Amino acid sequence: MTGALLEIADLRIRFAGAGEVVRGVGFALGRERLGIVGETGSGKSLTARAILKLLPRGAAMSATRLAFDGIDLLATGERAMRALRGRRLGLVLQDPRFSLNPAMSIGRQIEEAWRAHRAGSRREARDKALALLEAVRIREPQRVHGLYPHQVSGGMGQRAMIAMMLAPDPDLLIADEPTSALDVSVQGQVLSVLDEEVSRRGMGLILISHDLALVRSFCDRVLVMRQGEIVESCAAAALASASHPYTRCLLAAQAELLA
Ligand SMILES: Nc1ncnc2c1ncn2[C@@H]1O[C@H](COP(=O)(O)OP(=O)(O)O)[C@@H](O)[C@H]1O
Ligand SMILES: [Mg+2]
Repeated sequence: MTGALLEIADLRIRFAGAGEVVRGVGFALGRERLGIVGETGSGKSLTARAILKLLPRGAAMSATRLAFDGIDLLATGERAMRALRGRRLGLVLQDPRFSLNPAMSIGRQIEEAWRAHRAGSRREARDKALALLEAVRIREPQRVHGLYPHQVSGGMGQRAMIAMMLAPDPDLLIADEPTSALDVSVQGQVLSVLDEEVSRRGMGLILISHDLALVRSFCDRVLVMRQGEIVESCAAAALASASHPYTRCLLAAQAELLA
């Protein structure tokens, strides 16, 4: 054990017909904010899902190391993985519709996520759910608590999902384009909620985004992916002087957008 929260070595994912789409990814993560950037299709989401062993049907995965807090995930069965996912590992997806249960109110879902790791009264669970809804800047937590997922906007659904994922106090949260449906000011507020968890509890965070500027200002360290490989790994502050041509290309494209 190295003490890292997450260790990945030589991760490969292939689909029959499509060949290898993640090609030898490796990195280690501490209790820090790691950004993963890269164009659409570069393998960011599949890398994230591989960590939770939640790959789409037809995907074949291999790695020489995949460990979370010293636990060898390659040797962990589905039952134990499910327990880890509910308590210690969280995944926030781009589209909340795939993660929220359509048949349960938002508040109930957050309460259940909290109760997954703590024996508390219903009252405590409700208070915690309301506090989390408030933390993700939902203005009327009492009202939203009773709404069903189809009754809220995409941005609110996304924030509800973040609240649900934070409820069990996970050790590692992987957020895959978590703020893409939010407007810029709410985006900043939601990121600051995640930031708080990193500094307050030492949660590890992987933030996946195609927004280079966002990752650069928010993360400690950045990985740049291209066609299934990590082509650059550097401190976020050093990104502006990154040397890989592809990273320079992304930076230039971003500068153009901002100009
Ligand atoms: N279910 C699937 N079947 C076949 N190919 C897939 C599947 N899911 C993803 N891929 C391919 O794997 C590559 C990486 O996908 P993904 O990790 O989702 O990229 P990113 O999140 O960086 O946009 C893409 O080229 C995509 O076409
Ligand atoms: Mg993706």
